[in-house]
Amino acid sequence: MRTKIVVGNWKMNNTVAESIELATAITEKVGKGIHCCEVGIAPTFLALHEVGKVIEWGDIALCAQNCHYENDGAFTGEVSASMLAAAGCGYVILGHSERRQYFGETNAVVNRKVKRVLEQGLRVILCVGETLQEREAGITESVITSQVVEGLEGVSDISSLVIAYEPVWAIGTGKTATSAQAEEVHASIRATVAGLYGQQAAAHLRIQYGGSVKPSNAAELFAMPNIDGGLIGGASLNVDDFMAIVKAAC
Ligand code: 13P
Repeated sequence: MRTKIVVGNWKMNNTVAESIELATAITEKVGKGIHCCEVGIAPTFLALHEVGKVIEWGDIALCAQNCHYENDGAFTGEVSASMLAAAGCGYVILGHSERRQYFGETNAVVNRKVKRVLEQGLRVILCVGETLQEREAGITESVITSQVVEGLEGVSDISSLVIAYEPVWAIGTGKTATSAQAEEVHASIRATVAGLYGQQAAAHLRIQYGGSVKPSNAAELFAMPNIDGGLIGGASLNVDDFMAIVKAAC
């Protein structure tokens, strides 16, 4: 039985003060006993330390949105996995489509980050997803398979891995994949992982869905057999919407 996981990816939103305010509001609600699924929030790097202090007494995982693939050195403007570990992070989101699209991250770069983050004892949320063009060209499965296979190259243990399927055309657009469309891709990801790591490891792997998840569609998505929670963008910035989505995972 897989425990569902719902993570709010705040992206480039909220100042430190606003992040503390939102984290406090979420912590108060989660603190009242939502233990049926794992909950995480991913604020801006700047706010990680303060948000970490807020959620210390709650049951929420501190997540980062990205990191560099080296632990230290002359990489102006970057943040390393070892720094995130020291800051109390539990998870690092890697390979988000916005990183791939706007910052040129390839599967090879994502793979280096995945290995570094795991080496630091942190958990990885590896994002995969096809563009609208790729979906219309009928190559969704091969694109996702490459992202999974190449993203995990050289990784021998996936017990600290979560995969997030986020169709690029559904992110921030209000267009959600239907539960059947999402389930089809999730099942194919699980089959790919079973081929690489065996049935048992694949059966334990949690695969989140992301892309315009809202209180109105979360329950239907999370009810699918291979959908193990969500990676939530826009709706995670509103405490009531985020909590409604968390509750839909229970
Ligand atoms: P939205 O929920 O805003 O579509 O964003 C999804 C996402 O990219 C989460 O990482």
